[in-house]
Amino acid sequence: MCGIFGFVTVSDRPLGDVLLGAARRLAYRGYDSVGMAAIDGDGHVDLRKDVGRVDEVAARLGFTDLAGRRGIVQLRWATFGAPSRVNAQPHLDSDGDLVGAHNGNVVNNVQLRRLFADEGMIVRSTNDGESCVHAVERYVDRGASMIDAIRQAYRLLEGDYAFVIGSVADDTLYAFKKGSGLVIGLGDGFTCCSSDLPSILPLTARILRMEDGEVATLSAAGVTLHRVSDGAPVAREPEVFTGGMEAAVKGGYPHFMLKEIHEQPRVAAELLHLLDASPHVDPMAEAMQRARHLYYVGCGTSYHACLVGAVYAARLARRPVVPVLAPQFTAQYGPTLEPSDVAVFVSQSGETKDVLNALAVAGARGVTSLGLLNVIGSTLMHKSRTYLPLACGYEISVPATKTFINQVVTFLYLAYRMGGRPTDELRRLPDLLSATLDAVDPAVAALVPLFEGRRDLYQLGYGLTFGIALEGALKLKEITYAHCEGMLSTEFKHGPLSAVDEGYPVIFVAGPEDVPVMVSAVNEVTTRGGRAIAIAEPDARLEANVHDLVALPEAGALLNPLVATIPLQLLAYRLSVARGLDPDFPRNLSKTLTVD
Ligand code: AGP
Repeated sequence: MCGIFGFVTVSDRPLGDVLLGAARRLAYRGYDSVGMAAIDGDGHVDLRKDVGRVDEVAARLGFTDLAGRRGIVQLRWATFGAPSRVNAQPHLDSDGDLVGAHNGNVVNNVQLRRLFADEGMIVRSTNDGESCVHAVERYVDRGASMIDAIRQAYRLLEGDYAFVIGSVADDTLYAFKKGSGLVIGLGDGFTCCSSDLPSILPLTARILRMEDGEVATLSAAGVTLHRVSDGAPVAREPEVFTGGMEAAVKGGYPHFMLKEIHEQPRVAAELLHLLDASPHVDPMAEAMQRARHLYYVGCGTSYHACLVGAVYAARLARRPVVPVLAPQFTAQYGPTLEPSDVAVFVSQSGETKDVLNALAVAGARGVTSLGLLNVIGSTLMHKSRTYLPLACGYEISVPATKTFINQVVTFLYLAYRMGGRPTDELRRLPDLLSATLDAVDPAVAALVPLFEGRRDLYQLGYGLTFGIALEGALKLKEITYAHCEGMLSTEFKHGPLSAVDEGYPVIFVAGPEDVPVMVSAVNEVTTRGGRAIAIAEPDARLEANVHDLVALPEAGALLNPLVATIPLQLLAYRLSVARGLDPDFPRNLSKTLTVD
């Protein structure tokens, strides 16, 4: 996830150290390139940027030599345009009078680049941050003041982003946002703005949080806010943040995992904007629909998304899909693969060796390989014919949460498109995820004592929730160190039922269409003294049979798996914390498994 930081001070001074410090503090968000620009009192712009780690690029390009009254630093996590020097930020406008940088995604970037080039502007990169700069340039060149130009540019730029820009013609920086975070810091003789609070805190604790639809003008003396809609001034008092650095880095949450769980509504909304605007979705869906055999391939959590995605494809597009663990793809299907087959490789990191091995086998057999990945620039991105980004930003916690949600969202979106159906129903998803986060936590917290001392557990699903039960079980295993098996509810009676004794808890993840089949499985457990816990929409048939219900908002059969994931993530998280473990960094595990 990109990060931006802007700094304005009274007079020319060395800026390199302050910008470099901010860059180091933004680095936890993940990035592939870094750049800095300083504007001095004479309006001279010094811009330096490249691909690489902060300290390495800083040493190579001499970041600490930068001096001026205003500075911008940006860390880029690529979404539009490969990681490269030209795509790194900040960007200049056509004649070098404006310099700016953004984080987030401008989803109409392709159309805007074309428009700006047609209008005679010099478009140097494929990065959407450059489009933000040209959008302001467009109106400045027509004679608008910076604030008015920004107000008009705001209407042109679609997506979720935060942006900071400076002009050689004055002494200020301007910042605005739509969907992404932007915080302003007020210090003694300086002001600054940043994508996040942690990069500001060592400089000042006096902060002002910006809202969407506002433009901030930062000068050394202070900050003014104006509304984009009508240009009217906005009055807001700064607050003093007292929470400390660690709380700020974790967004006020005790762990990254909890923070990332709570980011899910936002990243899902951002992904949907991207998919709506992506030129790759339809060609990908068409290739998938045409394939002789279609495989969804991944490991761990990513494989569970494949399981859910395969059911979506069958339901919405009548498209049979083989969901398969990456090494088994090779072992079982390797000899049968043909060039008319398509395989979708799914990997948060894009570097999982098991997945890359399978990708190599597919490549050798001429299979069309598509990628779903979170890390732009990863091997999977380079080696797949086309890819879609999961657009979650950096996932720090070892247990995957938000990337799983966006994998499932992407599969659902592709299934709609494969079936030639509109994706309108997905518009409800971000609000449903938010409502679930608000609703389920007390019920999840009440379950924790039931699992005290338990070393083995079961989570059962059916149809669309089969993959969700497996994912919930994996989360629990991963961060509580207990054994937890996810399985098809109907399979439980074929063996594992013998584990049930008085009070033995079993979780049933029941989709709204699967209640009758779940009620049978519930009764097989409860008649033997077991405790049945349902994760489901309120349903009288279920409620009459289970001991506990974690009630989900009414989402309907297709969105229910996404919503049902949240209480399972929260349960694993709460049990991990209750056992005194660190859910972010479980023992023996690594975020990226680059070994066989
Ligand atoms: C998920 O919580 C795990 N950390 C793990 O199962 C992970 O999903 C698996 O290693 C695959 O990783 P990838 O998505 O980066 O390929």
